Amino acid sequence: MDNAKLILNGQEYEFPVIVGSENEVGIDFRKLRATTGAISFDPGYGNTGATESAITFINGEEGILRYRGYPIEQVAENASFVEVCYLLIYGKLPSKDELTKFENDLTHHTLLHEDMKKFFEGYPANAHPMAIMAAMVISLATYYPNLNENESSAEMINLNIIRLLAKVKTLAAFAYKKSIGQPYIYPRNDLNYVEDFLHMMFAVPAEEYVVNPVVARALNLLLILHADHEQNCSTSTVRMVGSSGASLFASIGAGVTALWGPLHGGANQAVIQMLERIRDDGSDYKKYVNMAKDRESGFRLMGFGHRVYKNFDPRARILKEAADEVLNELGIDDPLLSIAKNLEEVALSDEYFIARKLYPNVDFYSGIIYRAMGIPTNMFTVMFTMGRLPGWIAQWKEMHDDPTSRINRPRQIYTGERNRDFVPLDKR
Ligand code: CMC
Repeated sequence: MDNAKLILNGQEYEFPVIVGSENEVGIDFRKLRATTGAISFDPGYGNTGATESAITFINGEEGILRYRGYPIEQVAENASFVEVCYLLIYGKLPSKDELTKFENDLTHHTLLHEDMKKFFEGYPANAHPMAIMAAMVISLATYYPNLNENESSAEMINLNIIRLLAKVKTLAAFAYKKSIGQPYIYPRNDLNYVEDFLHMMFAVPAEEYVVNPVVARALNLLLILHADHEQNCSTSTVRMVGSSGASLFASIGAGVTALWGPLHGGANQAVIQMLERIRDDGSDYKKYVNMAKDRESGFRLMGFGHRVYKNFDPRARILKEAADEVLNELGIDDPLLSIAKNLEEVALSDEYFIARKLYPNVDFYSGIIYRAMGIPTNMFTVMFTMGRLPGWIAQWKEMHDDPTSRINRPRQIYTGERNRDFVPLDKR
């Protein structure tokens, strides 16, 4: 492809063009400032490619999402979440033996250091489990530090990757048990990844708890659909922090906090709160559609819109169907599901939403399924964390293994005061 030409102050500059394997085109501005003195200005990074990556492909116009080339629909239909972790992190589908070893590794690193239980006890009873999750992920660095050359070897990093994947569900379940005052339930090696989490979450020592296979299947699907989404806010945060050389645990802990916000992973909690508000207000969903269209109201339809998807979010399509199935199979009649469907129908036929290409995103139906599974609303974003973890790890590892990667350091256009003399306190 021809070089891109830029004319600045009457002078012409040329910049190379790079083309990805799906023919996405980028203008390589790495030499922009050195040759022109100017920087590219792109608040929100909507036009900025921060990296090359071979992990996840999204085509927002056509509603395509692929993990390592495999369409999300096929992955969701056929894979286990653990297989998806392997695929994203190591770049290929595991053979039978590789999968058995990987599952075995994940099963044998689930215990937390006993001292860590004391951390949970220090939090207030109503602490948000996402705050606990972020703190605990970073706290893992105190038990498994990367202090020297030897410890940051590929082998050590891989061990820490296994530890993190294995322990995150124990951390999530303990955070929940803390929030409801129940005893912690230890991991069980005879259960698979999702069953083990559900057991730690819902079992009590007083009686046997049998994991419902419908719930386990639904969780497997939800985790897969959240597993990676290329350079979104939390993943970019993981790369940003990791670019300074910070450890895996420190970088992922930062990703957890970025995910927490209502415009990102916190949206699934916000969707349920919105649907409950509409239900409590007489289920007049049209009133809320109108409010969302009125900028002055400050109200947005949570679970609608996406920075990248401008046609449909393929994950939302899969989840809409799954929501019907799961609620049917569990025999749950949730009025929030019909409010959600009504909202979707109205919004999709309304000029405001059509013109802005606003469609339901992954978070619109995930919360309804989590509710049906018995997961409380304040745990939704923690569930998203468990799902997104392999994506963060894969992206961190890709950057870490790339000898050309540099510390991330954006520039700015300064708009403050120009040079002026300091005024002593008695003259102000
Ligand atoms: N309800 C009503 N209007 C909206 C919505 C919405 N949910 N989303 C965007 N708009 C309007 C917005 O007001 C603007 O209108 P105008 O052109 O008249 O000013 C236009 O659509 C473009 O919006 P934007 O804020 O410039 O779009 P963005 O790409 O910066 O934001 C978004 C994307 C996902 C943050 C935003 O759509 C939003 O706030 N959605 C609700 C929160 C949500 O569901 N987040 C989950 C995202 S998917 C999962 C994840 O990534 O974690």
